Amino acid sequence: MTRRRRVYEGKAKVLFEGPEPGTLVQYFKDDATAFNGEKKSTVTGKGVLNNRISEHLMSRLSEIGIHNHFIRRLNMREQLIREVEIIPVEVIVRNVAAGSLCSRLGITEGTALPRTIIEYCFKSDELNDPLVSEEHVTAFGWATPQELDDIMNQSLRVNDFLTGLFTGIGIKLIDFKLEFGRVYDGDEVQVILADEISPDNCRLWDLATNEKLDKDRFRRDLGGVEDAYQEVARRLGILPEGGPGDLQGSTAIQ
Ligand code: TMP
Repeated sequence: MTRRRRVYEGKAKVLFEGPEPGTLVQYFKDDATAFNGEKKSTVTGKGVLNNRISEHLMSRLSEIGIHNHFIRRLNMREQLIREVEIIPVEVIVRNVAAGSLCSRLGITEGTALPRTIIEYCFKSDELNDPLVSEEHVTAFGWATPQELDDIMNQSLRVNDFLTGLFTGIGIKLIDFKLEFGRVYDGDEVQVILADEISPDNCRLWDLATNEKLDKDRFRRDLGGVEDAYQEVARRLGILPEGGPGDLQGSTAIQ
């Protein structure tokens, strides 16, 4: 086995050098953090589930023409991805009021928003990912106006598609966070979807009961975190072959 070089370690994932230039291996950890890493724990099986859930959602998005970094899943905890130049902006898409929107604006959680709202945060752990406007994004050159336009259109398409997909399995897509990156092909630059889409960065509520099936169970100490992620995977029809008992998963490529 070859020892791969670790390129980057985040709170929930590690990126290793990939087998070919322009590729990386994305390893999903069981680590869970909230409030910018202030609260930390591990949730057994979370990495395995997020690897599968993100694979599934990214693949479905590819099929409708939303280009993204996912190439293929390698094993229980790892997927091969295209290396991108990450745009340092988190894109938050909201359909229903929850989380920081409620605390910031005094809106009751669960209130349907008059229309989908997109917010941007500057990706900076030191600054606690501050909310910024489109003006900041373009003025500071984090993305060009054309790129931001593209990002917004892609985010709305992702929202439309995922809202339908989740509704079909009895889940309300309340909000989610996306990240985008640039890929270069000669003189051509393309902005594609990157990172992950999983219950770590989406709010997912049961359609009938409003039960939370996402990381808010961890953030708010509600318990049953792994059961909730497993329920999302089960409804998507992608529980790992071995069933819930098989969630320890394999180890990283050494
Ligand atoms: P917020 O309500 O806390 O701003 O979160 C909005 C959405 O973004 C929610 O689905 C959780 C997700 N999110 C992340 O993926 N990473 C983060 O660091 C934060 C703060 C939120």
